[in-house]
Amino acid sequence: VRSELNLVNRHREVFNTDYSNYLSDIKEKITNYRILIIGGAGSIGSEVVKILFDLSPKALHVLDINENSLADLVRIIRSSSGYVTNDFLTMCYNPLHPDSDELIKKLGPYDMIMNFAAVKHVRSEKDPFTLMRMFETNIHLMKKLTYWAELSKAKVLFSVSTDKAANPANLMGASKRLMEMTGFSFANEIFSSARFANVAFSNGSLLKAFYDRINSAQPISAPLNIKRFFITHKEAARLCLLEALVANNGTIAIPKAPGEIELTSFVDVATNVLKSKGFTPLFCTSEEEARTIKYSKKEWPCYFFESDTSGEKPFEEFIAKDEKLGKSSFEEINLITDLVIPGPKAIEEILRINPIRMPKEEIVGIINSIIPGFSHIEKGRNLDQRM
Ligand SMILES: NC(=O)c1ccc[n+]([C@@H]2O[C@H](COP(=O)([O-])OP(=O)(O)OC[C@H]3O[C@@H](n4cnc5c(N)ncnc54)[C@H](O)[C@@H]3O)[C@@H](O)[C@H]2O)c1
Repeated sequence: VRSELNLVNRHREVFNTDYSNYLSDIKEKITNYRILIIGGAGSIGSEVVKILFDLSPKALHVLDINENSLADLVRIIRSSSGYVTNDFLTMCYNPLHPDSDELIKKLGPYDMIMNFAAVKHVRSEKDPFTLMRMFETNIHLMKKLTYWAELSKAKVLFSVSTDKAANPANLMGASKRLMEMTGFSFANEIFSSARFANVAFSNGSLLKAFYDRINSAQPISAPLNIKRFFITHKEAARLCLLEALVANNGTIAIPKAPGEIELTSFVDVATNVLKSKGFTPLFCTSEEEARTIKYSKKEWPCYFFESDTSGEKPFEEFIAKDEKLGKSSFEEINLITDLVIPGPKAIEEILRINPIRMPKEEIVGIINSIIPGFSHIEKGRNLDQRM
């Protein structure tokens, strides 16, 4: 964690005080809970699973569609914690399968269901088929989980969101905002969520790609003009657990003082990663030059460019224009309350969205009627056109 923090130019872990203040409450609940984690083999999900495993819940069942990541998760747990939790089960299964409700009947009920499954890349908007899967995973799955929570008479239903859901500028962010709305609409009594920004070195992230490029002897590429708030896996997992187990249901947790989490540019992180491997950046003026230049022992070819891709906000925000902050007993976490919850008719409209059969303008129109002011910034370029 220290090196994750240092690599993104941060010096202090956040949410530490809140986590230690509430750890005994969290422990007490967890030891009595049967828990189901969806998307638990991903970056944030697996971090939450690791923490929960050590707190010895009555049952910990982890579901994900990625069997390799599930196998890795089990290896990591067996190599660190060992065999603390008795009823620990990982399942490689699609929760949207027509027979999936049987899972609750056969393995449930669950006191707590946490969802970390997602299609999270803005680049996944570029074709209607991936976009369809994004809507299924991010929204239809949420509806399904509200039903599973009802079948289980669950006390807690949590689904992770993103800062991109606040005043969304792309369909991915909008789909996560619609996910939140679906959760609140169908399970308001027990549902909660959390929005935060980039988890440093998480799966599929540009930061993780820096390591992958170096290991593959390939150049590093990053946008020049973009700075981000990076948090660690542990911080993200703790924020989710504090919201799910301590905060009031019906709220969305956000970091209290994002300003305290210093903004760091991708180029600075790339430089830090290179430095940790004994290199300095060799600045190239084109992708072609970076691909073809001869490697030296001390310098690594880098192509840093001005960003011009669609759906990216030049800044990060956690709260939408029409949202309010409520009372929070946390030191470093704010809670968004009094959320606008659409009625069943609006949710039906959301679930009707079918990118394979609808033009993008119609989808944007439907979303606009539910998230007023939704504006999709279309620049005609996406990250698949970048190295
Ligand atoms: N990583 C970040 O920087 C970050 C920051 C803020 C918010 N978030 C949000 O957190 C969520 C998870 O992010 P992550 O970095 O852990 O992503 P990830 O890709 O590492 O994990 C997602 C997991 O969900 C699984 N999954 C996908 N579809 C599924 C399905 N239908 N059923 C079961 N499992 C399925 C994947 O196999 C994967 O293991 C996303 O919604 C993302 O928007 C992430």
